[in-house]
Amino acid sequence: MLEALVYISAADPEIGDRDIQDILAAAERNNPAEQLTGALIFTGSIFVQLLEGSPVCLDAMMGRIVSDSRNSAVIGLARGPIAQRQFPSWSMAYQVMDGLAADQLHAQVGWDNTVKKLLDAIPYQHSINSLTPIFAGVLSELQS
Ligand SMILES: Cc1cc2nc3c(=O)[nH]c(=O)nc-3n(C[C@H](O)[C@H](O)[C@H](O)COP(=O)(O)O)c2cc1C
Repeated sequence: MLEALVYISAADPEIGDRDIQDILAAAERNNPAEQLTGALIFTGSIFVQLLEGSPVCLDAMMGRIVSDSRNSAVIGLARGPIAQRQFPSWSMAYQVMDGLAADQLHAQVGWDNTVKKLLDAIPYQHSINSLTPIFAGVLSELQS
């Protein structure tokens, strides 16, 4: 069975470009063998990640990510079966997200106040994110 999940987490405040490169390198190294695909948004202080794959591989990867000190406060937003992958050819697509995209994402998925507070604290220093509509599409499929 193919499933997708989306979670949000708080990045370590000390996180740097090198850490992001290391995370993406790990995804390139490990995800193909586990047939995991997906996308990662980084806002400067928050991660939002979509992961697609088998339930067993998703569980194993989430176990690693939850115990990874580069992030904390991992909150699952949605998880469920999908008909097909949104990112079939990406071990992990990566995008930084600007403030407008963060606001749109918040409106689309209806995050609770805790998450909104996290989002309000984001330093909006980055440019356009084109992944947002795709995330929203996946979330609405999972929520329906
Ligand atoms: C937000 C976030 C997303 C991550 N996504 C992935 C991922 O998609 N694939 C992966 O292998 N590791 C990912 N990691 C890193 C894992 O927590 C872990 O460090 C890595 O899988 C270890 O790989 P290694 O055993 O090859 O060194 C992520 C870490 C963070 C903080």
